[in-house]
Amino acid sequence: ESSGMWGGRFSEATDAFVAQFTASVQFDQRLYRQDIQGSIAHATMLASVGVLTDAERDDIIKGLSSIQADIESGRFEWRIDLEDVHMNIEHRLTNLIGITGKKLHTGRSRNDQVATDIRLYLRDEIDQLMQLLAKLERGILTLASQHTDTIMPGFTHLQTAQPVTFGHHLMAWFEMLLRDGERLIDLRRRVNRLPLGSAALAGTTYPINREYTAKLLGFEAVCENSLDAVSDRDFAIEFTSAAALIMMHLSRISEELVLWTSAQFRFVQIPDRFCTGSSIMPQKKNPDVPELIRGKSGRVYGDLMSLLTLMKGQPLAYNKDNQEDKEPLFDAIDTVRGSLLAFADMIPALVPNIEVMKEAALRGFSTATDLADYLVKKNIPFRDAHEIVGKAVALGVRENRDLSELTLAELQQFSSLIEQDVFAVLTLSGSVAARDHLGGTAPRQVKAAIERAAGRLEAL
Ligand code: ARG
Repeated sequence: ESSGMWGGRFSEATDAFVAQFTASVQFDQRLYRQDIQGSIAHATMLASVGVLTDAERDDIIKGLSSIQADIESGRFEWRIDLEDVHMNIEHRLTNLIGITGKKLHTGRSRNDQVATDIRLYLRDEIDQLMQLLAKLERGILTLASQHTDTIMPGFTHLQTAQPVTFGHHLMAWFEMLLRDGERLIDLRRRVNRLPLGSAALAGTTYPINREYTAKLLGFEAVCENSLDAVSDRDFAIEFTSAAALIMMHLSRISEELVLWTSAQFRFVQIPDRFCTGSSIMPQKKNPDVPELIRGKSGRVYGDLMSLLTLMKGQPLAYNKDNQEDKEPLFDAIDTVRGSLLAFADMIPALVPNIEVMKEAALRGFSTATDLADYLVKKNIPFRDAHEIVGKAVALGVRENRDLSELTLAELQQFSSLIEQDVFAVLTLSGSVAARDHLGGTAPRQVKAAIERAAGRLEAL
């Protein structure tokens, strides 16, 4: 009976290859829990408006619960000829409870059913991703609070720019990830709406109560238009776009970790458990986890492109194209989940090489801007101060000495306004402490930022 669910209209069975080709049960079976949850709510609503009797409702719920138990203990046999998760479960329900099982689909279509399943599933996954993100963010805060005074070079163009604190750098990561969380929370509101009741596309002739179904399933609202509700997957695209941004951020951080663990930087160590060796080069300890996450960002960008392209040519309402929404969405979810899991463990375990970072900040004339600002305070216009300091740096480059290693007499060749107090300005700690305003790298400010951050994370 391979044309089982719609045999009535057909005069020959579905071609075996076509049945295989059009089936989705191999990948949509992961929606089984949401499918059953949605069916129970639907049956409960149908009974509340008198379309089903209470006894029928109870039989359906009992049957569905035992199917769920079978699935979870691996006793359920998924059948390709039953095409998808919905028909596998419904078919089994009818086998179990008889004719009442055939009433479950009253006032419903797989079109509003699948849209509901995906929204329920994605909502749960978003909540789990939020937990992982928060764990990672708390880990960053802990590490940052240990390093509000640890100095490293800050970079622009990957060239030494100005000294910053490691805590400040970590808090930049925190900001990136906090916005990612805000995006998930915001889009969750649009995921959390109920398609059921839209039926195939136009609604249904039964006296349904959609608000009640929505309440049973914890949806904030019902989708207002039946044609839109069964067809659009913008909520999945929005999620995947937020997922792509998360991966973009993790990839940037990964790139920094790959650089920083190299023998040329040596800024941080990643514990051995996150690394692997080489089968040929005995000395190697490779930062596999960050590298892999940097690579995996590409998958999620691909998932986003797949979904956008999947949607763009579809006229209202449901089209079978939409069955292709699941694999990219699931892949994006799985990839982000795995990447966040790895990061949440790895980031708090990073060990910075404090001395190496500091020495690196001493090279590259990172306090040149401080010297220019010093001259400005002595009433030299900034452009002229820039020029003066440029000449001092040129001397330092020629002689391979930092600005702080030039003598007062040498510095005074460039401006007679330079006095002994200049050396306080040329120290790394003086440089960072001077950037003492909201958002600046001064240890005082970073401490305050970390304190505010804990509250902002709570409030999310
Ligand atoms: N497996 C289908 C999907 O993923 C379920 C909906 C099928 N609806 C239909 N009219 N063929 O979208």
